[in-house]
Amino acid sequence: MLNTPRKILVTSALPYANGSIHLGHLLEHIQTDIWSRFQRMRGHQCYSVCADDAHGTPVMLKAQELGITPEQMVEQTRAEHHQDLQSFFVEYDNYHVTHSDENKALCEDIYHRLNNAGYISKRTISQLYDPEKEMFLPDRFVQGTCPNCGAEDQNGDSCDVCSATYDPTEMKNPRSVVSGATPVLKDSEHFFFDLPKFEKMLEQWLVSGALQEEIANKLKEWFEQGLQQWDISRDAPYFGFEIPDAPGKFFYVWVDAPVGYMASFKNFCDKNDVDFDAYWNADSDAELYHFIGKDITYFHCLFWPAILEGAGLRKPTAVNVHGFVTVNGAKMSKSKGTFIKGRTYLEHLNPEYLRYYYASKLNDGVTDIDLNFEDFAQKVNSDLVGKVVNIASRCAGFISKRFDATLSDTVLDQALLNEFQEASEGIAESFEKRQYNRAIRDIMALADKANQFIDAQAPWVTIKEEGKLQLTHDVCSLGINLFRILMVYLKPVLPKLAEQAELFLNDQLDWDSAKRHLSGHQINKFKALMQRVDMDKVNAMIEDSKENLQATPKLDPSSPVAKDPIADTIEFDDFAKIDLRIAKIAKAEHVEKADKLLRLELDLGGETRQVFAGIKSAYQPEDLEGKLTVMVANLAPRKMRFGLSEGMVLAAGPGGEDLWILEPHKGAQPGMKVK
Ligand code: MSP
Ligand code: ZN
Repeated sequence: MLNTPRKILVTSALPYANGSIHLGHLLEHIQTDIWSRFQRMRGHQCYSVCADDAHGTPVMLKAQELGITPEQMVEQTRAEHHQDLQSFFVEYDNYHVTHSDENKALCEDIYHRLNNAGYISKRTISQLYDPEKEMFLPDRFVQGTCPNCGAEDQNGDSCDVCSATYDPTEMKNPRSVVSGATPVLKDSEHFFFDLPKFEKMLEQWLVSGALQEEIANKLKEWFEQGLQQWDISRDAPYFGFEIPDAPGKFFYVWVDAPVGYMASFKNFCDKNDVDFDAYWNADSDAELYHFIGKDITYFHCLFWPAILEGAGLRKPTAVNVHGFVTVNGAKMSKSKGTFIKGRTYLEHLNPEYLRYYYASKLNDGVTDIDLNFEDFAQKVNSDLVGKVVNIASRCAGFISKRFDATLSDTVLDQALLNEFQEASEGIAESFEKRQYNRAIRDIMALADKANQFIDAQAPWVTIKEEGKLQLTHDVCSLGINLFRILMVYLKPVLPKLAEQAELFLNDQLDWDSAKRHLSGHQINKFKALMQRVDMDKVNAMIEDSKENLQATPKLDPSSPVAKDPIADTIEFDDFAKIDLRIAKIAKAEHVEKADKLLRLELDLGGETRQVFAGIKSAYQPEDLEGKLTVMVANLAPRKMRFGLSEGMVLAAGPGGEDLWILEPHKGAQPGMKVK
């Protein structure tokens, strides 16, 4: 039972604004979301915030490639990321962006506090510089020959072949990934944060219970190697915040990114009249938890607490580190189709399958988690469809049809009901400790018991036996009540299913309501709550993920795409005039004497059109036949030298071999309207 409600603030790591949300990110967001939903169900006040991580060289360069401003790119990506997360029922109280007024103000304030306290110093360092692009090069933007084994085309900081790590200045034949130019060494003044001053504090924090044992041990290793001054500045051109009174010097992205947690919360507090300082002051009685992946431990467990301490703010209550997602036993791979974007997943599968599967695998450790799709299908089908939903579907029909949709008011097996109710605290403890796998195991053990009870009572037999009507009613009523308790416990993991169950049960599910028993209660009509995982859909998703890769040509900043400026804005009505249709390429052939054109016969599902398309440089006719594509179906026919062209197919790319017709998903049918 709840004593005093806790004040909790929870964060997930901020995804970079230059890529899509993928199934790896989703492990973290789902882990965080389950935890915060659980806390809220328990009656605590729990806010959760996230944001897009907008700054840094990769974001800046990607925007240049796309020919848009970094601000535009970041805003687009932020909206997409937020939408993707919500589609997985991941709900943040605020989803902000680090390129924001709140973040700028907070970064400047924290910087002043650190500077005034003497934690910032300046020193000139020498770094690789791209003389063509006129910018300093982060390690990953330098490639060359490994100084250790001589392997070519290695990255600026480490070798994939011999695993050596080195400084980019040690590489042989270095070149800039950005322009191809040979980098030169150039001096520049940098700002440093005095991390070694915080060693004592960090050593204490390490044993305060804030960290998992594996992580605390990792930190101890870092202490043994000796803490270093941390370089917190980057030179222009850089997409970030300029350091106060230092023109041309910017905060390194990893300075303003964790401050972005605060900024997202500040933005929320200002809109909702919540006391921001009560959560961040050194004497705050609120709890603060960061959920992160193991790759960013250093930033969250060394720099971040030191910065907070140095600025006179509170430190995290805990940093919760998780391992990495592997798919079918291997690192996510674009060529194998196992680098799966959230969006692609959603086109094929129910988001709650993934929430459930991750929950069934997640614990409080940092070991990697394998998403094995055979296991995924098997677990979802057997646990959710075969066990949990099955309880309701076996009992609901009789209640509605034979007992006036009303549950009986006797408890047939009090011991069984007690067992379900008494499991509440143990399951809660597992959620609290992030041992979701244990919670799921316990919940499924109860589901087995409920099914055994129903099997033994066989209401489908007793319903036909004389004098057993009351018994049948009691059996089904207890079944529905047991289902209800299971759905209470599963609600943090499966919010959508729980919502459907609430409709069916005509009741609210909060944590303490597991203790309540519905008797003489009217329920609603039962509708199928969840479909089985279809392996064909899993395979289609993997296929589509392979196609993603082919459809995304690597953009070169000098390509015509980057240089093609976006045309003037049109009104929606103008756009709506274009009738785009799915077309099947029924026939494709060369056109005599034409250099660029292929003649296509496009099947619009009942109607065939002839179109001359300028895609000869990129496609062989035989490779096109049978493919689906998108055409402008209402373009006025145009008489060409070779015949009448009745429409246009859409293609993208700079031209020549690099030209791609649009290929819709295989489920599309010829003639369908593209909206
Ligand atoms: N922008 C930084 C975080 C700044 S937090 C102040 C960053 N972004 S990220 O997009 O690369 O990663 C975001 C989170 O997703 C990190 O916690 C990272 O560990 C996690 N994951 C990225 N790929 C992952 C897997 N394959 N598996 C599990 N988590 C993964 O780092
Ligand atoms: Zn090497």
